[in-house]
Amino acid sequence: MKSKIEAIRNQFSKDIEDAKSAKDVEALKVKYLGKKGPVQDLMRGLKDVTDADRPHVGKWINDLKEDLMNACMRSLNELEQKEESERLSHENIDVTLPGRRHHLGRRHIVNQFMDEIVDIFIEMGFSIQEGPEIESDYYNFEALNFSKDHPARDMQDTFYITEDMLLRTHTTNLQVRLMETQKPPIRVLSPGRVYRNEEISARSHVFFHQVEAMYIDKGVTFGDLIATLESFLVKLFGAGIKSRFRPSYFPFVEPGLEVDIQCLLCRGKGCGICKHSGWLEVLGAGMIHPEVLRNGGIDPETYTGYAWGMGLERMILIKHRIKDIRILTQNDLRFLEQF
Ligand code: PHE
Repeated sequence: MKSKIEAIRNQFSKDIEDAKSAKDVEALKVKYLGKKGPVQDLMRGLKDVTDADRPHVGKWINDLKEDLMNACMRSLNELEQKEESERLSHENIDVTLPGRRHHLGRRHIVNQFMDEIVDIFIEMGFSIQEGPEIESDYYNFEALNFSKDHPARDMQDTFYITEDMLLRTHTTNLQVRLMETQKPPIRVLSPGRVYRNEEISARSHVFFHQVEAMYIDKGVTFGDLIATLESFLVKLFGAGIKSRFRPSYFPFVEPGLEVDIQCLLCRGKGCGICKHSGWLEVLGAGMIHPEVLRNGGIDPETYTGYAWGMGLERMILIKHRIKDIRILTQNDLRFLEQF
């Protein structure tokens, strides 16, 4: 019996040496370990072995079976590795080629500037809320004291969608919406995109961004407005920035102001950017008109408030000496990656 087992083992060793592929190994496995193979034959022959011999003869057969199985597995592994290394040796990999660079994204320059302003106002206790860009005539104009034939409507060339719906021309559209849903004190900063039907040129575009600030409470005064604005401008443009306030007109404030800062480029000496005046106009502001408060359901006898709105693009152009506003929306990475 022992010699029979060894003969099978030897023959198998030779056969597996000759195996050239995984398929050959599979075939050997069937040939030796399958139902009609020699190992099964040995098993069947066990019944003719004496009771005394059966345990160790059984063990020989089991050992043989296990050895053949393991040899098949080993051979399969080796063949697979050989195939893989052959495949790799045919491939040409140039390890000196430069790797693929991963580009790190960044916030757009307009959003970066907006974030700066938002941070200043969060520190001052304002909450941030955004209004809709598609707006009704009512919230964009009517509720803000622009009647249908009000001449001030001409100041803001409007994209109308229907007779009653439009693309908001300013972030002031959020004011009455907020008054309707919140009780004073209301202290909100509202950043967002606005639209005006203007000719696109180096200096103006059909959309740009504004931030709107609004504060309503008992006893809010004109002095509060000036103080807040001054401290905001210093935080944004740095200590030593000079500002000046000029009376102006917006239907939704009374009194209304326009605010200038000393030109960021020439510091007041006069240059091409500030049209040799030494000043740059940066924002519109004022005390919220009593009629607008009333439209929002707030009693102007009890409450007062201030508001202001500032465009961002022009400030960015000046700060970074950019000559053409259109480059801000052209998504040219060579430009965007500079910020
Ligand atoms: N909405 C005005 C504009 O777009 C700015 C403004 C806001 C003025 C709030 C006064 C008060 O020009």
